[in-house]
Amino acid sequence: SNNERTVEERLLHICEILESNIDYYNWVGFYFKNGDKDELKLGPYVGEPTDHTIIPFGKGICGQVAVSNENFVVPDVAAQDNYIACSITVKAEIVIPIFVNGENIGQIDIDSNTSDPFTEDDERFLEFVCKEVAHLLS
Ligand code: SME
Repeated sequence: SNNERTVEERLLHICEILESNIDYYNWVGFYFKNGDKDELKLGPYVGEPTDHTIIPFGKGICGQVAVSNENFVVPDVAAQDNYIACSITVKAEIVIPIFVNGENIGQIDIDSNTSDPFTEDDERFLEFVCKEVAHLLS
């Protein structure tokens, strides 16, 4: 119906809440498996527009999480050789996979302009967010 938020709107709202409330979350977005292709497709996000709307599995931090099924915390993006730069202001990144029925269907990706900002508390919090997102999607 008209006054029901779509899944896309709900996901964008989550990005907005995270980016506006946590000062070291400077780009917040979702990538999802693109149909049956071995690639990720950009979903709702907040922050600078990125050219990287499609990311092949295995490429960059995001593509690595698509195949590892593990959290990836990067304290210093300059120290990563398999990294896709979206903005020169980015110092650090965290990517947490989203599981629906045990399948890795996408991820939340957060870039920070602060060096080494992410703690285990961020991982636990974002795992919780990803579980809520999984419920939205299933
Ligand atoms: N840095 C990511 C690419 C996505 S942008 O951060 C929005 C990566 O290396 O996969």
